[in-house]
Amino acid sequence: MVRDLREGLLAQPRRIPSKYFYDERGSQLFDEITRLPEYYPTRAERALLLRCARTIVGVAAPHTLVELGAGSADKTRILLDEMLRIAPADATYVPVDVSADFLAASAAQLRAEYPALTIRPVAADFSTHFSLSAHPSPALHVFLGSTIGNFTPDDAIRLVSSVRERMASTDFFLLGVDLRKDAALIERAYNDTRGVTARFNRNMLTVINDCLGADFDPSRFGHNAVYNTEHHRIEMRLISCGDQQVDIPGVGRLTFKAGEAILTEFSYKYDYDLAAELLSGSGLVLREWFTDDAGLFALALASR
Ligand code: AVJ
Repeated sequence: MVRDLREGLLAQPRRIPSKYFYDERGSQLFDEITRLPEYYPTRAERALLLRCARTIVGVAAPHTLVELGAGSADKTRILLDEMLRIAPADATYVPVDVSADFLAASAAQLRAEYPALTIRPVAADFSTHFSLSAHPSPALHVFLGSTIGNFTPDDAIRLVSSVRERMASTDFFLLGVDLRKDAALIERAYNDTRGVTARFNRNMLTVINDCLGADFDPSRFGHNAVYNTEHHRIEMRLISCGDQQVDIPGVGRLTFKAGEAILTEFSYKYDYDLAAELLSGSGLVLREWFTDDAGLFALALASR
């Protein structure tokens, strides 16, 4: 974290990597976001999975489901149900998540719900290289929730390329992406009227305070989220409410001018072409493209 903050906060414009949103409180706040009336992606993806899971599992015929950034594995149950219909004996679920505590809790929950399923959690940061131990073949690797949107196109290619390296020749990859649409609709999803997204954004400063003993006053930073139509991405920032100094042990004593911004998140919105480019640039072939009728969200199924 010290290395990331030195690199990001001593630079201009200042930035903090989005992965630091997610301590326990941050994960709870994101969970709350997914239930907000304005935040359409989670509902759209769930509806799409309910409609397409049978086709996806029919094509990929997985005996193992590998999930990057598994979180509470809520939408995953839709795919697990289908996999258990075709691979009841050796059906295996490999959730990969940075948060070991969260992972253990959701694995325990799933074991109770799915006694026929083998669950092998992997505590790892999926944006780094990690390897998987042996598991039944073929595997369906899934990266849902439009989390890929947090990565710039180049970083996204690096990430999907590392997924490809872990894929056997008969494995499949399922990617969830939020689609380009009316800018106002997208902006509303990141500026909810209850202020949950603002709390989620500010919580990043609390995470840094807790981890490093920094003295950010989160109440002195304002939430800002705008859609950049040129780059097709939400840009989320924290804006300093006045001139202020913050001491971050290991990083230094920083001065923030009134109105100065810290970039905390990109959330890229996709279309078919960008998804196809990402997959082919990562050495994969886009096999099927599923979208809902309103064109809110898409699932891309790819193979090697
Ligand atoms: C979890 C990265 C998909 O980009 O929409 C929600 C995170 N940020 N509201 C997204 C988020 C603000 C979310 N992802």
